[in-house]
Amino acid sequence: MTTAVHSAGLGRFGEFGGRYVPEALVAALEELDEFRTKAMVDPAFIGELTQLHRTYTGRPSILTAVPRFAEHCGGAQVVLKREDLNHTGSHKINNVLGQALLTRRMGKTRVIAETGAGQHGVATATAAALLGLECVVYMGKVDTERQALNVARMRLLGATVVPVEHGSQTLKDAVNEAFRDWVANVDHTHYVLGTVTGPYPFPEMVRDFHRIIGVEARAQMLDEYGRLPDAICACVGGGSNAMGIFHRFIDDAGVRLVGLEGGGEGVHSGRHASRFSGQAEPGVLHGAYTYVLQDEDGQTVESHSVSAGLDYPSVGPEHAFLRDSGRAEYYPVTDDEAMEAFRLLCRTEGIIPAIESAHALAGAMKIGRELGPSGMVLVNLSGRGDKDVHTAASWFGLLDDEATTPPGDAPRPADDEAATGGGESQT
Ligand SMILES: Cc1ncc(COP(=O)(O)O)c(C=O)c1O
Repeated sequence: MTTAVHSAGLGRFGEFGGRYVPEALVAALEELDEFRTKAMVDPAFIGELTQLHRTYTGRPSILTAVPRFAEHCGGAQVVLKREDLNHTGSHKINNVLGQALLTRRMGKTRVIAETGAGQHGVATATAAALLGLECVVYMGKVDTERQALNVARMRLLGATVVPVEHGSQTLKDAVNEAFRDWVANVDHTHYVLGTVTGPYPFPEMVRDFHRIIGVEARAQMLDEYGRLPDAICACVGGGSNAMGIFHRFIDDAGVRLVGLEGGGEGVHSGRHASRFSGQAEPGVLHGAYTYVLQDEDGQTVESHSVSAGLDYPSVGPEHAFLRDSGRAEYYPVTDDEAMEAFRLLCRTEGIIPAIESAHALAGAMKIGRELGPSGMVLVNLSGRGDKDVHTAASWFGLLDDEATTPPGDAPRPADDEAATGGGESQT
């Protein structure tokens, strides 16, 4: 596995990254860095992780061509990298299994995690059950309501889910709470951070556990299509699935790396999660120097997205570096555009994506139109939509108690204006 090719100094990606934490956490971060650095070159560790991915996660995840969906993408070919088929339903398991094995190596008995969409919490609860670790998951109260299914899954797996009732009651507040717990219990607890942000070594370590997505995808593209894609589209909350698929392609100059952020109700509405198109400036949040949505006084501004997993005011520092260096491009996708792409994939290909991943699909529709019929777009389908069925059904007015049309004659979103309604309130 690769170490940080773009780092200058401790955990830096250009000027971004670093380690901004209370003194009480420094020793734990240093211990983690030492263990993960050794583990990544230890054949026993890599062998155990690889074996788990093969027999438990279900890797390698497959590529799926989606020609009927691609008809809406300017005729460009579209191929999905199917992280949605992983055990627990998203890419999150790649990172969690790695960190859970490290927890055991460090001799710690308890893991904590933050979660937004719930997929990282479910993955952590799963790995904790597998390795016999105690597990506590912090989740914003708003997210526990919009992702109730995942709350139940975590509890079934034996985890304690703690709803966080302050701030915006979403992912940012869950991360704050997890850090508080970690400071108090650091001697026997590892914080399984769920994305490529936080203090060094998390951004680099989490990326390296997800790098397998791009390693597999690059080999599969050459093997199955005899070429690399012209562009790769991935949604960006903290940015782990995107860094995972981007990283192996960074040196392939002909491959555009395109990150899609939660554009919410539009970047001019003030209700969005677009760190690169909105009013974000570099600043420190959750231990890293990176782009943060903030006001003129430097106060963090609440984000908004229909997708809990993208509803976060900050972004991984390596994305900040890739963006400022011009290697990757980032665009906002509104809630409406994402839900339109969500519906389209369901109807044209029989695949229900996570709403997060639907942002990447909406990006493919835009990039595909730019590329035209000779173009090829690889989309990282980061997760499946089981957790989002209630949100989507409500958005499109398909629930019996909410539908305005009689049963059997559910609104056909292709023909109506259903996709213009909603927002967070539809949960
Ligand atoms: C399916 C899915 N995709 C994407 C994300 C966003 O996270 P990241 O940007 O770290 O990949 C989440 C977060 O919960 C998720 O559940």
